[in-house]
Amino acid sequence: MRITVIGTGYLGATHAACMAAIGHDVLGVDIDPDRITALTAGQLPFYEPGLGDLLTEQTQTGRLRFTDSYEEAAAFGEVHFVCVGTPQRGDSGAADVSHLDAAIDSLAPHLHRPCLVVGKSTVPVGTAARLAERLATAAPVGAGATLAWNPEFLREGFAVADTLHPDRLVLGVSAQAPQAEAALREVYAPLDPQPPFVVTDLATAELVKVSANAFLATKISFINAMAEVCEATGADVVQLGRALSYDTRIGGRFLGPGVGFGGGCLPKDIRAFQARAEELGVGHALRFLHEVDAINLRRRERVVELTTELCGGGLAGRRIAVWGAAFKPDSDDVRDAPALTVAARLHALGAEVSLYDPKAMDNARKLQPQLGYATDALAAADGAHAVVLLTEWPEFRDLDPAAVAAVVARPVVVDGRNALDRERWERGGWTYRALGRP
Ligand code: UGA
Repeated sequence: MRITVIGTGYLGATHAACMAAIGHDVLGVDIDPDRITALTAGQLPFYEPGLGDLLTEQTQTGRLRFTDSYEEAAAFGEVHFVCVGTPQRGDSGAADVSHLDAAIDSLAPHLHRPCLVVGKSTVPVGTAARLAERLATAAPVGAGATLAWNPEFLREGFAVADTLHPDRLVLGVSAQAPQAEAALREVYAPLDPQPPFVVTDLATAELVKVSANAFLATKISFINAMAEVCEATGADVVQLGRALSYDTRIGGRFLGPGVGFGGGCLPKDIRAFQARAEELGVGHALRFLHEVDAINLRRRERVVELTTELCGGGLAGRRIAVWGAAFKPDSDDVRDAPALTVAARLHALGAEVSLYDPKAMDNARKLQPQLGYATDALAAADGAHAVVLLTEWPEFRDLDPAAVAAVVARPVVVDGRNALDRERWERGGWTYRALGRP
């Protein structure tokens, strides 16, 4: 099929490369000409394991191209996937859907023959129905330009695998355009094995996505709330989480206690979901998400408190090594990253911060240029009064505690992700502290 993918961020670039990989002819569309040049040359503007190779491979086959022309996109595509960002608004918790509106407004006037436009972005419920009308009104082909919603559940760090082997595909189609289901099934027919398909109306499809992220955020904040209680009682949240995980109704995934969730999705999605619920008059139903957010942000403060306490009550003049800046391993994304937020806070309280992250250094430096940046984990630890681990990259877990102890001023480690082997670090002479553990 001839497919366009509008917006070439994490979601769009991955979707475009994967659709080409399963045999479609794909045209990626972006308004940023530098991005188009880079992608055309097979260069990814962000770090995502496996995606760079796939991009190079698919651009070389000729099945994957990029353009900044909506006219070209409209002439080319039978199915247009819209993958633009929906960030948090500057003035409230609500989602900013202006990029989506702009994409539809740019594409629609060029649509002269019947086609399907498919939203993949995470949106406030009701957006798809509004865009369907906007599309049909602005397109010369009128109601021949139909709209469906097919939310994306990929995780950064696993984006390619999640796209080629999704847990499920949700197809939101409107009663006015039931043919969209067949077109979308055709798009995904080459996926092997075929995932379960859940066909819904537009509103349900939009809601599946935000409720999935809300559930994941709630699960993380649940275990982090337990960590707070553990801290007040001397109990151990790691043992507690492990014991809970054997109950198959609960399960162990997303039950990892630590400095909490960040990134470009979970934090803004739970805020946008609450804002939308308020607009719909059901704000009370999602008020717990306010608490989920608050628990999450308190964990960042708790790491700062713990570090301050271990430095004798003040951070002025103290040298602190921060391991990690990305919001999670296998990513260079620092959007709303707990690690970078904590590093900036430690600096603001007078600490001399020396930060190292395997992939996110450039992005971190752009956002927090005032911090010190080191060339590797050991260099960051050089002369440190405390080492704080905030992103659980495997290379931090694998470090030899004795080798690190040899370079620090004091062997004190705060494990903000419960990622290190406590006994090993204690045997190496370290004072080990972690969130939710005695
Ligand atoms: C999340 C969802 O997992 C995807 O399904 C969704 O498609 C995506 O948002 C999106 O909306 O686009 P992602 O933001 O890539 O994916 O990251 P996650 O793997 O969900 O991790 C989110 C945060 O939770 C990270 O900061 C991570 O460190 C934290 N986390 C995760 C914990 O603190 N504890 C855990 O046990 C698990």
